[in-house]
Amino acid sequence: MTDILQELEDRRAAARMGGGAKRIESQHAKGKLTARERIELLLDEESFEEFDTFVTHRCTDFGMENSRPAGDGVVTGWGTINGRQVYVYSQDFTVLGGSVSATHAAKIVKIMDMAMQNGAPIIGINDSGGARIQEGVDSLAGYGEVFQRNIMASGVVPQISLIMGPCAGGAVYSPAMTDFIFMVKDSSYMFVTGPDVVKTVTNEQVTAEELGGASTHTKKSSVADGAFENDVEAIAEVRRLVDFLPLSNREKPPVRPFFDDVSRVEPSLDTLVPDNPNQPYDMKELIHKIADEGDFYEIQADFAGNILTGFIRLEGQTVGVVANQPMVLAGVLDIDSSRKASRFVRFCDAFEIPILTLVDVPGFLPGTAQEYNGVIKHGAKLLFAYGEATVPKVTVITRKSYGGAHLVMGSKQLGGDIMYAWPTSEIAVMGAKGAVEILHRKDLGDADKIADHTQNYEDRFANPFVAAERGFVDEVIMPQSTRKRLCRAFAGLRGKQAKMPWKKHDNIPL
Ligand code: HXC
Repeated sequence: MTDILQELEDRRAAARMGGGAKRIESQHAKGKLTARERIELLLDEESFEEFDTFVTHRCTDFGMENSRPAGDGVVTGWGTINGRQVYVYSQDFTVLGGSVSATHAAKIVKIMDMAMQNGAPIIGINDSGGARIQEGVDSLAGYGEVFQRNIMASGVVPQISLIMGPCAGGAVYSPAMTDFIFMVKDSSYMFVTGPDVVKTVTNEQVTAEELGGASTHTKKSSVADGAFENDVEAIAEVRRLVDFLPLSNREKPPVRPFFDDVSRVEPSLDTLVPDNPNQPYDMKELIHKIADEGDFYEIQADFAGNILTGFIRLEGQTVGVVANQPMVLAGVLDIDSSRKASRFVRFCDAFEIPILTLVDVPGFLPGTAQEYNGVIKHGAKLLFAYGEATVPKVTVITRKSYGGAHLVMGSKQLGGDIMYAWPTSEIAVMGAKGAVEILHRKDLGDADKIADHTQNYEDRFANPFVAAERGFVDEVIMPQSTRKRLCRAFAGLRGKQAKMPWKKHDNIPL
C-alpha cells in the first residue's frame, strides 16, 4: 500500500516538473512564470483542484510514443478567487512548447463543460506553439471542439483570456471569442500569420512584437483589452476584474462590502464643466468621484480614448460605465469608439450588469475615412446594443448631447430607464454653429447677424430644459449630488423586469 501511495506522490512530483528544470529555467529567463506558478498566483492559496494530471497524448508518429509527459502540456482544474469559483487552464510551454494535441484540447474542453454546467467563469492562460505538429488533423479537431465551447459559453459564463507567450495561427480564435483578452508586454504575441509569412506574401518586414505584441493589440487592433508589464501584474488585474463579475448568467454580480457614503456630495463637480463649451475636461474625474471608493476598472484604456468603458461599484454593486471623454477628439463618436462601447454594453447586458452612461458628445465624426469604413454600420452597433440591453440603464448628460449621438448614448427612447441632466447640458439636434449656418445661410456674410442668431439658438436650445419640459429628461440635477442620485436610481431599478419580443437571435449590424 505504501508503495502505491509513494508512486502517486512520485508521479505527481514528476508531473509538477512539467518539461523539467532546464526548460523551467529557460521559461524564467524569458521573464515568464510557469503554468503552475501562474495558477498559484491567480487562485486563492491552496484552492486549486487539478484534473487530468496524468493525461498523456496517444500519438505514435514521429517517435512521439517515446515521450509522453504527464498532463500533456496543459494544467487544468478549478479553484477560487476571493472565495468565488473559477475554472482555469494554463498551457505549459515547457512541455512540447505547450502545443495542442487532441488530449490537450480534451482537457480544456472538459473544464469548459464543467464551467458551463456549474456556472463559473473560465480563465484560459495561453502560452503555446499552436497545433501539435506531430498530430496533424487530430490537433485541428481538438481546436474545433474548444472553439465550439467558446461559442456555447459566450453569454453563459464570463470567459477571460490571458496571453502570456505565443498564440498564433488559428489558435488565436479561441481567445478572440472570449469576453476579455489581457496580454503581457514584450513576452506575448498574437497573430494569424507570423512575420515570415507576412514578409513572403506582402513583402512587409515586421517583428513579432510589432505585428502582434501587447502594444499593437491594445492600441491599434483593439483585439486585447489590457496590457501589463509582467505575468504577476496581469494575474493580479484579472483577480481584480473577476471580483466585479457574476459567476454566470444565472446569478447577479457580487455585492462587495463598501465603506463609502452613499449620499456623499462632491461640490467640486459643480465646476467640472468649464464655462467655455469648447474647453475639454476629464470625464474620468467624474467617474472616480461617483464610484465607491473612487475605484474604476477600465477596459480598453489604450484604444479609442474618446469613449471610456469599465466597471465601478455603487453601494457595493457592479455597474458598467460608458462615458464620452471630452479630452480626446472632444468625445466624438466614431467607428472605433462605437465598436469598443457596443461590445462592452453587450457584455454588461449578457451578465445582468446595470449600465451607467455619462454623456458629453458633440455628434459623430465627419469625414471620408469614417464613411468609407462604415461608420453607419459601426455606429448602428452601439445604437443596437443599447436598445436591446434590458439591464437597468441610467444616463447623466453633463454637457453636449447632440443629434443621433444623443439617442445612441442611453436615451429614454432606446430603453433608458432614468435620464438625468446637469444644468450645463445642451440637448439639441446639433450645435449652435452648425444650426445657424443651415437656418441662416443668407446671413453668412454678416458677422453681427450670425452672432445674434447663434445667441438666440443657444438661449433656446443650449440647455436641458426643453428636453426636461417634454419629460425626455427625468430630472435636472446638481452635479455635486450625482453619486447620491445614481445610487438611488440603481437601487430603484433592482427589481426591473423587461423583455424583448421572442426571436431566435437578433441580427446586430456586425
Ligand atoms: C510540436 C512544438 C510546437 C508545435 C513548439 N514546439 N511548437 N512541438 N508542435 N506546434 C516544441 C519545439 O519543438 C521545442 O521542443 C519546444 O516546443 C520549444 O520550442 P522552441 O522552438 O525551442 O521555443 P522558442 O524558440 O521559444 O519558439 C517558440 C515558437 C516556435 C515561436 C512558438 O516553437 C514555433 O515557431 N513553433 C511552431 C509554431 C507553429 O508553426 N505552430 C503550428 C501553427 S498552425 P524541444 O523538444 O526542442 O524543446 C496552428 C494551427 C492551429 O497552430 C489551427 C487551429 C484552428
